[in-house]
Amino acid sequence: MQFIDLGAQRERIADRLKAAIDRVVEEGRYILGPQVAEFESRLAAYVGVKHCIACANGTDALLLPLYASGIGPGDTVFVPSFTFAATAEVVALAKAEPVFVDVDPDSYNIDIESLEAAIAMIKAEGRLKPKAIIPVDLFGLAADYDAIMRIAERENLLVIEDAAQAIGGSAGDRMCGSFGHVAATSFYPAKPLGCYGDGGAMFTNDDALAEKLRSFAFHGKGETQYDNIHVGINSRLDTLQAAILLEKLAILEDEMVARQVVAARYAEGLRDVVKPSDNLSGTRSAWAQYAIETPNRDALKAHLHENGIPSVIYYVKPLHSQVAYKSFPVAPGGLPVSKGLPERILCLPMHPYLSIEDQDRIISTIRNFVGRNSLNPAAE
Ligand SMILES: Cc1ncc(COP(=O)(O)O)c(C=O)c1O
Repeated sequence: MQFIDLGAQRERIADRLKAAIDRVVEEGRYILGPQVAEFESRLAAYVGVKHCIACANGTDALLLPLYASGIGPGDTVFVPSFTFAATAEVVALAKAEPVFVDVDPDSYNIDIESLEAAIAMIKAEGRLKPKAIIPVDLFGLAADYDAIMRIAERENLLVIEDAAQAIGGSAGDRMCGSFGHVAATSFYPAKPLGCYGDGGAMFTNDDALAEKLRSFAFHGKGETQYDNIHVGINSRLDTLQAAILLEKLAILEDEMVARQVVAARYAEGLRDVVKPSDNLSGTRSAWAQYAIETPNRDALKAHLHENGIPSVIYYVKPLHSQVAYKSFPVAPGGLPVSKGLPERILCLPMHPYLSIEDQDRIISTIRNFVGRNSLNPAAE
């Protein structure tokens, strides 16, 4: 059994992938070939935004909006602590300071009260200027953008949606990647929309920002490649990856429907024995990960492993406790949810091709284990 079965997806579209790859290799337009622009326009239409700017990876997709907005020394950006390192890393790379905010215990996304308290703290201290928020759509579930955008408007903050895990997810009638002033995503192979290497993209409806992002991703180019109007970086999506992504985008919606079935089956089968994940009202998670919580996590993980079932702990440590980030400010009151989750959380196999038989085996293995351990706590 695989944690994420990329092989099953590859088999499904093997002929189309091979033809697409062959075409790029034969045509020889390896950098910014026509497939890149075609992919950008198809993905912009899927997400429901005016501009999609492809780049080299999801980390650059978060960094470039900071560069393009002039965020740097003396500025702060509010980020959740329970996320992948890149969310905070880009803030430090831009020479600004991340301020760590707690997450909500059910959505695992940035907690609105903690965010308000962090903003008030930074304003009261007066040392740093609040400039932006990077909410993360963790595991594929949209953050609370109604509340976040209200705060951002009041405080004049830029919102950069970290939709690295969330392409295909939605809230209300909007797709993840369309929230905030600008959004970033990743095409890392294991993501809901993944390529065969590194890749990323930015989304915005703001024409001027889109033009700047394109420039910063291409050595700060102006009218031509040899006209430099900004200090930029080299961050482009390879034509080969765009050709692969075009084929994968064509089946993404179908895969999203399959992921919903898998998630609903987990929630149904596990609800009375662990804390499962569920779609919150009005949302559709992209289910990049399916997380459960249980106090007996380490023993359960070992038991699953003994039974040939892979599972992964996302994340083993919140960012505010990591060596690289522990000197940055945290929201008042500490971050109890971000601190506690790493002790209880476990992610189960999740992909659109998970068979009912395999899933039933995962569910019954967990049920047997939890049943046995709750009857006999000494066995823990
Ligand atoms: C929440 C989050 N942000 C950012 C990134 C960075 O993406 P990439 O690995 O493509 O640089 C990732 C990917 O792992 C992620 O999960």
